[in-house]
Amino acid sequence: MVGSCNWRVQYQLGIVPAMKPNVIQWTDTGAVRLLDQTRLPGETTYLEIDEIDQMISAIQALSVRGAPLIGVAAAMGLAAAAHKRESESEADFPAWFDVASTALAAARPTAVNLQWAVDRIRAKVAAEAPSGRRMSEILREEAQEIWDEDARMCAAIGQNGALKVPQGATIMTHCNAGRLATGGIGTALGVIYAAQEAGKDVNVFARETRPLNQGSRLTAWELIESGIPTTVIADSVAGSLMADGKIDMIVVGADRIAANGDVANKIGTYPLAVLADAHSIPFYVAAPVSTFDMSLATGAEIPIELRSPDEMPAAVGARVHNPAFDVTPARLVHAIFTDVGTIEKPSTEAVKEVLGV
Ligand code: MRU
Repeated sequence: MVGSCNWRVQYQLGIVPAMKPNVIQWTDTGAVRLLDQTRLPGETTYLEIDEIDQMISAIQALSVRGAPLIGVAAAMGLAAAAHKRESESEADFPAWFDVASTALAAARPTAVNLQWAVDRIRAKVAAEAPSGRRMSEILREEAQEIWDEDARMCAAIGQNGALKVPQGATIMTHCNAGRLATGGIGTALGVIYAAQEAGKDVNVFARETRPLNQGSRLTAWELIESGIPTTVIADSVAGSLMADGKIDMIVVGADRIAANGDVANKIGTYPLAVLADAHSIPFYVAAPVSTFDMSLATGAEIPIELRSPDEMPAAVGARVHNPAFDVTPARLVHAIFTDVGTIEKPSTEAVKEVLGV
């Protein structure tokens, strides 16, 4: 752990630990150990979680964040909590599991991966109930499978997306859709890592991402760790860089994608896509199939999380409107890189075709 001086100063002094900490892991006792992302990049501290309420708090506080990682963490949290209470009583598992999984799925409303992961665990429990196996064992296996699968999906997204990255590209991204947001190398940043791996020289403009600075704190941190030249900008700088011809492409992650290809992602993504369109710069989204919600026809139906006014520095007495996400219409998205292929010019038909649904 590094001392308490401002993290920007620590960075400049080079005293922020140069290491790749585990974002999430099991402990020897079957609990979940989470890197507390609210403390990055200044401090590398961990939370140990073995109860559902603790996991809900960690998700809501953004100690663990990013759509795919929330899904992985929720699944692991259910397994850890089931393991802890197993010694107390197995008989009331069904009632406990029902309440715990419902509460966990509701921790944050926009990222569909959370509900998706909880539904998978529920389906597994239902299927395995007659087997007589220990429930915590079943939960842990399925949680591990969700995690492993997410890592594989990130790798595949990276391969697909890297094909669109020109040699020497300058790429802009928003929020954090990297190792800190998934069970693998990331989605949007996975594309950048895969391009680097393929021998392409890339450099990145990371938007600050107000109000919680996932771009300047998290994306810049992990890109620098990976040796990718990174420049942090205030969100409002994007337009002038585009007008100056400095940006070759944009790639962002997603929290939920509707059946027609409309994309919910971190607040500020939509105006970024509008700017990209105005400057004829390709705007790409990278996301696993677990981020698609085929039950919603368009993005207008995606629930948008409203967060506390306390996250926004404002004069006392001012009302604060603090949505965490916005929706970018499919017509502004050039392509969506998924683990099962690239959806060019997203539309209901194009999404169905690539996803095979
Ligand atoms: O509020 P956050 O930090 O969880 O928001 C995260 C994002 O908006 C990411 O871009 C998205 O979840 C994709 S992460 C691979």
